[in-house]
Amino acid sequence: MQLVFLGAPGVGKGTQADKVAAQYGSHKISTGDLLREAVRNQTTLGLQAKGYMDQGKLVPDSVVIGLVRAKLADPDYAKGFILDGFPRTVPQAEELGTVLNERGLRLDRVINFKVSREDIVKRLSGRRSCPKCQATYHVDFAPSKKGSLCDRCGEALIQRSDDQREAVETRLRIYEEQTAPLISFYEKKNMLSHLDGAGAVEAVYQNLTKVLAAYKTA
Ligand code: AP5
Repeated sequence: MQLVFLGAPGVGKGTQADKVAAQYGSHKISTGDLLREAVRNQTTLGLQAKGYMDQGKLVPDSVVIGLVRAKLADPDYAKGFILDGFPRTVPQAEELGTVLNERGLRLDRVINFKVSREDIVKRLSGRRSCPKCQATYHVDFAPSKKGSLCDRCGEALIQRSDDQREAVETRLRIYEEQTAPLISFYEKKNMLSHLDGAGAVEAVYQNLTKVLAAYKTA
């Protein structure tokens, strides 16, 4: 399937994208993960992006569009993908349409995750991430079995710098200003399904698979 996961920071897009990717054999393309990897490797792109990310601001469109273009050029990725955190602006969505057209691909569905602001703040403040393999945990809702170490690779878990209170406020404001307009953008194209992202991870996943199954048989 070829999907876009849309929604505010912390609604659970990445968590659900991992599960769908495993179930459907698709590739998760997370621009946040790709950018964090570039920052960690101190590439030119990473050094450029770091300042924006630490403050919770969007990285310039041209940078993220380049990352997604490169991934979609891989024929294996083009067979099935979940775009997590991209597009995030109307120009990014328009460019995505162009890239897909060029490659003879189309989006099956855009899923808009909805969670209350109170839950978002709880999820982000308790999130812990593995800087090596990008696995995500939550101190209360999804703790690592190895305490402060990653279950998958054993690396010490960290709190993302943009999960600090001030950056979270900025990210939520920028989401409303620049990303929320994509809801009507995709609604007008009749491509959008809304999903209640509240509740436990497994319950959300069950609802999500129902939406995807209903779509697939449509
Ligand atoms: P990115 O990494 O994409 O951050 P985000 O969109 O803010 O999303 P998050 O990763 O914070 O949340 P999520 O919805 O994936 O939730 P998760 O599953 O982790 O981007 C980071 C930065 O990179 C941006 O601010 C920007 O600077 C830059 N960037 C990225 N893409 C860009 C773009 N296209 N254009 C420009 N700049 C871009 O879950 C959150 C927590 O909740 C976890 O701890 C998880 O365990 C827990 N959790 C998940 N589901 C549940 C549940 N159902 N119940 C309880 N807990 C749950």
